[in-house]
Amino acid sequence: MTDSWANSGVDLHLDLDTAGGRRAGLEQALREAIRSGRLAPDTRLPSTRALATELNLARNTVAAAYEQLTAEGYLHARTGSGTTVAGVPGRRAGTTPPAPVPGPRFDLRPGSPDVSTFPVDAWVRATRRALARAPVSSYDYGDPRGRTELRTALAGYLGRARGVPADPAHIVVCSGYVQALSLLAGVLQGPIAMEDPGLAFHRDVVRHTGCEVLALPVDEQGACTDQLGGGPLAQARAAVLTPAHQYPTGVTLHPARRRAAVAWARSHRGLVIEDDYDGEFRYDRQPVGALQGMAPEHVAYVGTAAKTLGPALRLAWMVLPERLVEPVAHAKRLTDLHTETIGQLSLAELITSHAYDRHIRACRLHYRRRRDLLIERLGRRHQLHGIAAGMHALIPLPAEGPDEDVIIERAAARGLALSGLRPHLHTPGRATATGLIVGYAAPGQAAYPAALDLLARTLRGR
Ligand SMILES: Cc1ncc(COP(=O)(O)O)c(C=O)c1O
Repeated sequence: MTDSWANSGVDLHLDLDTAGGRRAGLEQALREAIRSGRLAPDTRLPSTRALATELNLARNTVAAAYEQLTAEGYLHARTGSGTTVAGVPGRRAGTTPPAPVPGPRFDLRPGSPDVSTFPVDAWVRATRRALARAPVSSYDYGDPRGRTELRTALAGYLGRARGVPADPAHIVVCSGYVQALSLLAGVLQGPIAMEDPGLAFHRDVVRHTGCEVLALPVDEQGACTDQLGGGPLAQARAAVLTPAHQYPTGVTLHPARRRAAVAWARSHRGLVIEDDYDGEFRYDRQPVGALQGMAPEHVAYVGTAAKTLGPALRLAWMVLPERLVEPVAHAKRLTDLHTETIGQLSLAELITSHAYDRHIRACRLHYRRRRDLLIERLGRRHQLHGIAAGMHALIPLPAEGPDEDVIIERAAARGLALSGLRPHLHTPGRATATGLIVGYAAPGQAAYPAALDLLARTLRGR
């Protein structure tokens, strides 16, 4: 390879206007790139020879332009270490980017796991092993359902750990639960019943596909699946459920409601979309098996790596009834051809080597300790719902007040970010239920006890 602009480390597009001469044009293009921030301070510029070759200029021309800009203060020239960008003369370094807005000191909002537990070493080992074994064709376009290695590994894992009978041919790997939901809604093209309360973002995802969202009430036995098939829910083509740990109330779907969901799907040709987002994390008793095991031909099961490994991977998987495999795979192909392959191969390796199970066991213990501390610091004075599983709990607030918005504001003033129940309701104006959804996974180890104490004080009005 020759010594070029590209292999010198940086790649930059320069618009040369040579009407006023080549040297002046180059100087102007470099000044503009530095002023606009496209060339950041400390960036090493290519050698005069490399840039001259790249731009088809004489080397002397480039050297003269570098000298001129060094004299003006835009560049630094150091013997032995080449020419680097100094910055815009007169503009103090560090004043260009806006100062980051300070975040809250403590954050007990739900949604993210403790991302500091991401198993970096195990992931790197898995990637290295997977790539050493991967055929060259892995780097090419692939099956819209995802890599066979991952679908086979998932089939084994899901059967064993989640009670999900899965044929690898019926699995479609996708980019997060959010994409699974979007693809399924896009294929169904009909009204979809969604739990009320539930995640507002997911309702938006469904509406974005053109489907209508119907409110499926939730009570102390979980989603009222016995209401499916009649009344305002009569038209529903599908029902989205979080049976293992309802989001956000934390209820486990009652066995009678599980049966009602399956009976509705069978009698109405309906589809249950099972969101098993945190099914791996159950603390006080045996994990609740997935609903899919009761009726694999009527349930689209969706699992995700967002809680077990980290949301950044954007890796999730659907186990589909046979009739949906082809249409969903087709929709996936039209959306993004298929999910990125290297991560799929790494996850397959992580699962088959059982490093995935070991990681989940370690995390389960970690979150259980977090959950126990939550109970210790708040459980005596406040009701905590949904604490048998997952990474969040619901603290219902008394009807006589103070309202969740008041508490959230009071906490924010003290540097504690909290999340309320109301935005999860389909019709948030409803006066009845108010509460706090406390996510206990994400705060740093050192900050967590202090965050809980601040929450306890805020709830007491102190
Ligand atoms: C209810 C629920 N379902 C699913 C997910 C996972 O979504 P994704 O896989 O798109 O990150 C989350 C993540 O917070 C969630 O809260």
